[in-house]
Amino acid sequence: MSKILLVVGARPNFMKMAPLYFEMVKTPGLDPRILHTGQHYDYVMSQAFFEDLQLPQPHHFLGAGSGSHAEQTARIMVEFEKVALTENPDLVVVFGDVNSTVACSLTAKKLWIPVAHVEAGLRSFDETMPEEINRRVTDAISDLLFTPSPDGDAHLIHEGVPEHKIHQVGNIMIDSLVAILTKIDQDHQNRIVQRFGLTKQRYVLVTLHRPSNVDERDGLEQILRYLNQLASEVPVLFPIHPRTRKNIETMGIDVSFREELRIVEPLRYREFITLEKNAAFVLTDSGGIQEETTYLGLPCLTLRPNTERPITVTEGTNELVDMSTIERQSARILAGRWKSGKIPSLWDGRTAERIAKIVARYVSGK
Ligand code: UD1
Repeated sequence: MSKILLVVGARPNFMKMAPLYFEMVKTPGLDPRILHTGQHYDYVMSQAFFEDLQLPQPHHFLGAGSGSHAEQTARIMVEFEKVALTENPDLVVVFGDVNSTVACSLTAKKLWIPVAHVEAGLRSFDETMPEEINRRVTDAISDLLFTPSPDGDAHLIHEGVPEHKIHQVGNIMIDSLVAILTKIDQDHQNRIVQRFGLTKQRYVLVTLHRPSNVDERDGLEQILRYLNQLASEVPVLFPIHPRTRKNIETMGIDVSFREELRIVEPLRYREFITLEKNAAFVLTDSGGIQEETTYLGLPCLTLRPNTERPITVTEGTNELVDMSTIERQSARILAGRWKSGKIPSLWDGRTAERIAKIVARYVSGK
């Protein structure tokens, strides 16, 4: 049996790992083990996702926690090295672009353990984003690079990655989305939407946590003022990331907003997808949500100057906005004047299947 260590750490990793874990369990010759670095540790940021995705408890938990980038990355590396040495896996699989991704790929590679990167090749070309550094470093040292879309392949080839390492397999987050959509029936959807006092298609769902949006007082205040104004036209539900909440508190920002702007705790996966599916539109700075809304055909405004997921704009329902265009674009959506978009090729819920096949071939040396 080939031992495969699947590494996760932060919220967006869990729904990328789950389908691959289940597929590998079914694949002869593969013995998948889950390692959680503990980068995210709150129940709603981590354990609730394991429950909704029906994952077993991780085989290893590193308890790395928060800190500066150097502290967090270093702590994960030190703890991961111990496990990698005792487990001696045949392959380490990392996901996405978080600090856990780069920390564990670097550690494994220096122990001569091959590394596979799921969601390889994405580029925002914005080096002020920590995720962009994490992507570049991870891709530069990975042995198997699984890309979600053709732009990923093009970037890797341009950077000199040998073609035989690159496999375009589609978007693995969509596997989890497809699976959960079959589990949320109309009754569940009505219940959840009503629990938040909302009406289907008559509210906006907001998520914001990028340092560029939430780490500076003036910018964050301006965004919150806009949300408060938007809430006078249409109810706004804002499940708030711990980073954003902490910043609002430490900056002492006044949060006496109108009641139609509902700031709530982060939502678990099942609830979030339900509320996303039924929203009028989504305003976000997340990567994964740009992809989910494209799959759902739901209008999405991304509050960022760039995206590493341009296919969601060129083929999907996403548009980038800044504070000078956000109002006009929201109004267009609410007036029903938005592009319809299409689902990109290979975003079909079968990405894990394709990856598991390639991994099985790779570790058996064929
Ligand atoms: C991380 C990822 C980002 C991803 C995001 C999704 C990196 C560099 N960034 O950003 O790509 O989009 O996760 O959520 O890896 N905190 C808690 N409880 C938790 C987790 C975090 O309170 O369970 C607080 C801590 O105070 C921490 C802050 O949130 O300092 C930021 O957490 P961190 O993991 O450093 O980065 P994120 O902003 O969550």
